[in-house]
Amino acid sequence: MKMTRIFAAAIAALGFAGTTLAAEGEQYPPKEHHWHQDGPFGTYDRQAVQRGYQVYQEVCASCHSMDLMRFRNLAQRGGPFEEEAFPNPNDNPIVMQIAASYTRVWDRDEINDDGDPVERAGLPSDPFPAPFPNVQMARASNGGAYPPDLSLIVKARTGGENYIYSLLTGYYDAPEDSHLAPGMYYNPYFAGGAIAMAPPLAEGIIEYADGTEATVEQMAEDVTTFLSWAGDPHMETRKQMGVMVLLFLLIFAILVYLAYRQVWANVKH
Ligand code: HEC
Repeated sequence: MKMTRIFAAAIAALGFAGTTLAAEGEQYPPKEHHWHQDGPFGTYDRQAVQRGYQVYQEVCASCHSMDLMRFRNLAQRGGPFEEEAFPNPNDNPIVMQIAASYTRVWDRDEINDDGDPVERAGLPSDPFPAPFPNVQMARASNGGAYPPDLSLIVKARTGGENYIYSLLTGYYDAPEDSHLAPGMYYNPYFAGGAIAMAPPLAEGIIEYADGTEATVEQMAEDVTTFLSWAGDPHMETRKQMGVMVLLFLLIFAILVYLAYRQVWANVKH
């Protein structure tokens, strides 16, 4: 008797907690979006990855680092600037040009004859430059919130590409009854509904190198595709390998069947 009462109380408490949570910050499920890289044969849309890099570089890179990326990764096999003529990514002219457009101290251990750290133009082997020298400064510049590193963000969030896309296109006017703290923005796709990142995308803020119209949806899709590639650059090779393995198994199965027929051919059933 006593047990059932405790049990009932626990159920009631759980239900109560559930309703208050839902009321405080209802999180929308991510939008369903079609991705070129979906499915067992899906590949990255190379043009989208290129445009997405442009969005990252011109918009997101002022707040978000991508510590696991080096310039030459952009020209590696399957990368956005891969060129047949330059199998070695370190020789890729586009990537050399991108890297060289950044001048800074790349390595505190590179010292000149006067004992000062060397400031020089970037090389393909240098990492993507981080916008802030440390976490504290990143927080101080963003109202206390830390813009996470984007190298693996698509893998790191439930919902993957759909979540990132929804977040970037999910800023709406806050409902009347929401109490947004100063510096927070209403985005129901973010857990809790209030995010410290101001809407980063707006129609036409960049001019695409390939002439594509820069709508918010287009930029969100492109930068998500780029981040997806960055977090899993070997996906295409892996999928190709999967197809080869299945093909091998199929041929092997046929051979085994024929061998079986051969072996039993003269046996009376
Ligand atoms: C002005 C600085 C700024 C810019 C520009 C910016 N962000 Fe952010 N971003 C932030 C901050 C700050 C947070 C942390 C928000 C929080 O925790 O409330 C964040 C969080 C995020 C998150 C993580 C959300 C989560 O689930 O934790 C993603 C993904 C993201 N940004 C993507 C982007 C992309 C893509 C761009 C470029 C289109 C971009 N951001 C541009 C400041 C910025």
